[in-house]
Amino acid sequence: MQKNHDIPSLGPIPRHVVIIMDGNGRWARRKNLDRLSGHQEGIKSAKSVVRTAQEIGIEYVTLYAFSAQNWKRPGNEVLALMNLLRNYLINEGEELLAQNTRLKAIGNLSNLPHDIRELLSRVIKMTEKCDSLTITLALSYGGREEIINAVNSIMAEGKKKKVTEEDFQKYLYTSQLPEPDLLIRTGGEMRLSNFLLWQLAYAEIYVTKTLWPNFRRRHLLKAIANYRSRERRFGLTGEQIREKGS
Ligand code: IPE
Ligand code: IPE
Ligand code: MG
Repeated sequence: MQKNHDIPSLGPIPRHVVIIMDGNGRWARRKNLDRLSGHQEGIKSAKSVVRTAQEIGIEYVTLYAFSAQNWKRPGNEVLALMNLLRNYLINEGEELLAQNTRLKAIGNLSNLPHDIRELLSRVIKMTEKCDSLTITLALSYGGREEIINAVNSIMAEGKKKKVTEEDFQKYLYTSQLPEPDLLIRTGGEMRLSNFLLWQLAYAEIYVTKTLWPNFRRRHLLKAIANYRSRERRFGLTGEQIREKGS
């Protein structure tokens, strides 16, 4: 049957959504509040996004919560962010369990304060068997560091064989995660800020001016709808892709 290609058919929902949660500081400044209030409000957005993702059947959500470069922020802001993370881990474990949501973390976790590492391990262990949604927190995460780490691990093994893309992926923090389908960045900046440099090779990119503390359920639904209207090509022609799909 001849298909009418002028009417775009809706594609599947993304399996793995990754989010650069940006704009907390600007949100606070616009309201004449301190930056911490912006981060606090941002936690509510994270919870709303996790709930919505679980409801609509997204399998993986990865949240850029703290970059390797964010350690260079003023000491009091770093401390406040660590406190928020601490409280999130203390309070949210049961809720994640109730939502059948599994928690994971990627990044240079050894840089985190000892007690946070313990709390993190506890929630990760506690939600290990949850299988509806996997939330991965990127903490003290840097994409370049991740790639260099992988290279060093491979060299340390001393293997002489050529490394393939598949081999290489096994050495990344994300070895257990599927490739991201959709990157959402809030706050309007059009950059990657060292996030998932290898993994985002073929992800669809969605940038919204909405600041992270304002980003809630309906904003996520809008981003997903936008993703579903796109045609992913992976280097092929549109015709080839549509032939495959029909
Ligand atoms: C993102 O919000 C949160 C973190 C980087 C931890 P920002 O704090 O970067 O907010 P803006 O970009 O200054 O508005
Ligand atoms: C990226 O936001 C990191 C996180 C959202 C955790 P930044 O605010 O740190 O990025 P830049 O500095 O604008 O590139
Ligand atoms: Mg920012």
